[in-house]
Amino acid sequence: MKKLIVFSFVLGLFLVSCSSNGDKKSDDATKQESTTTPETTDVTANPDYKAGLALVAKSNCFTCHHISDKLIGPAYQDVAAKYANSPDTIVTHLAHKIIEGGSGVWGEVAMTPHPDVTMADAETMVKYILLLKK
Ligand code: HEC
Repeated sequence: MKKLIVFSFVLGLFLVSCSSNGDKKSDDATKQESTTTPETTDVTANPDYKAGLALVAKSNCFTCHHISDKLIGPAYQDVAAKYANSPDTIVTHLAHKIIEGGSGVWGEVAMTPHPDVTMADAETMVKYILLLKK
């Protein structure tokens, strides 16, 4: 009889430790999920990256711009670096510049105007370019 009591006591302990272990595991899992999500640094996962790249590739931008090298226009990585600490209004400003064209910021050579590009598309292109910062 005494043995049976000891046995059930041990079994009880075993069950308690098992279930508390299980709880801890699920806690860890939720913690991990909530900390890793905002830390994602893969810019290609950003919806603006895909949409902007598609628009830039469809237009004639790559005739004058390269991601990392200066062609006729500045490298997109240089553009991203230059405006990295600018306020959000830079997106509208640069979108206007794409549509209207212009010179004087990077040199005397002018960017041709792109009147066929809508303001919304130009802003998406700018958001993509600004994501290219090294
Ligand atoms: C004919 C060549 C040419 C084409 C085509 C072109 N660009 Fe440019 N781009 C330039 C030049 C040159 C500059 C530098 C202008 C300056 O110094 O103000 C420039 C500058 C820029 C800048 C930075 C503007 C600033 O004020 O800092 C952005 C952003 C940009 N281009 C995006 C684009 C996008 C997006 C397209 C396609 C829709 C495009 N460019 C097509 C030549 C071009």
